[in-house]
Amino acid sequence: EHVAFVLGTRPEIIKLAPVIHACSDAMLPYTIVHTGQHYSESLDSVFFEQLDLPDPAYNLGVGSGSHGKQTGEMLIRIEETLEEIDPDTVLVQGDTNSVLAGAIATSKTDIDLGHVEAGLRSFDRRMPEETNRVVADHVSEHLFAPTAQSERQLRREGIEAERITVTGNTVVDAVYRNRELAREKSTVLSTLGLDGRAFVLMTAHRAENVDDEARFRSILRGVDRAARERDVEVVYPIHPRAAKRLDDFGIDVPDRIRTIEPREYLDFLRLEAEADLIVTDSGGVQEEACILGVPCVTMRDNTERPETIEVGANRLCGADPEAIVRIVDEMWDVTSDWENPFGDGDASERILETLGVSVERGVA
Ligand code: UD1
Ligand code: UDP
Repeated sequence: EHVAFVLGTRPEIIKLAPVIHACSDAMLPYTIVHTGQHYSESLDSVFFEQLDLPDPAYNLGVGSGSHGKQTGEMLIRIEETLEEIDPDTVLVQGDTNSVLAGAIATSKTDIDLGHVEAGLRSFDRRMPEETNRVVADHVSEHLFAPTAQSERQLRREGIEAERITVTGNTVVDAVYRNRELAREKSTVLSTLGLDGRAFVLMTAHRAENVDDEARFRSILRGVDRAARERDVEVVYPIHPRAAKRLDDFGIDVPDRIRTIEPREYLDFLRLEAEADLIVTDSGGVQEEACILGVPCVTMRDNTERPETIEVGANRLCGADPEAIVRIVDEMWDVTSDWENPFGDGDASERILETLGVSVERGVA
């Protein structure tokens, strides 16, 4: 068995890292193919270094562009690269354009495709991510569903039970592996002057939020007001897409919101764990908040992670300032005694077992 990992963005690097480590532990040969969708150091190479990953064997250097151009160029280069590597299985993770291209390219070969984090649905086809996940799921031989709920969704769409394995989400593996390290090693709290102080951690980068000027302004206004009511500061590690939009629209970020550079994983985990509350539109951050026991408010109209809402860890507030203020207020003092719905931290091992590799459990 030879596995090729096709990945391209920050969340894919973080969530595939435990699977890559499980391959190394099982002495399974693998090859990392990076599409180059993310290329800024702060979204890319810092994670390879910090998560102890080898440099990708291939970097296809595709970079940014419109959906068609970015996905099309990836498709051409991934096909050429897979011909050269000739793996038995390709693994992709999540819902980005890199996943779409990796899935389509692989599906036209005799190489097996495995989709990690299969069966998530927002039921909102305006999101490019929704199309990407649906397509990737339907062309995969192996669907690794994080929860029983995502498995049921795949079955409803007519996907055979034999193709689906409920593994848990590899983000749990990543959090369990790194949260102690973050506590020991990260100095982010003192660097930012947050030691012993209440604060809100914010991220916002989704196209539907930050590419729409009125909606982005409305989110910033809402978060600023919510923070004033609690008399706390908001720390916002800002994704380059959002930073560019602030600039394009000439938006002045309100005083209560401190924008900082995107953080490496241990710093970010530390900020998540220590925050009084998290406001976000990120998929991975909704999950991590839930796993770490920190209340989360999601600035979207829907979520493909309903498990977080059902256990009481997360609420949707859209982009309306009043709704943001009200829901932050309601979530502030919530007791975080929910159970993590995303599994036990052995998702990576289960994924490899499905591919016929025998692995040792509990090494994470
Ligand atoms: C992509 C994913 C999104 C995911 C996010 C993770 C798609 C359609 N979207 O969004 O689902 O949540 O990654 O972070 O695949 N840029 C840089 N440096 C980089 C990469 C991007 O400055 O390394 C800037 C460029 O201005 C670029 C913009 O960000 O045009 C958007 O990048 P893109 O890859 O299209 O999407 P993301 O917003 O990163
Ligand atoms: N993350 C990080 N540094 C940051 C912001 C996020 O390490 O400054 C991590 C976060 O812990 C999570 C992942 O990036 O694991 C989420 O990625 P992102 O929000 O970009 O994408 P999404 O999950 O929404 O696709």
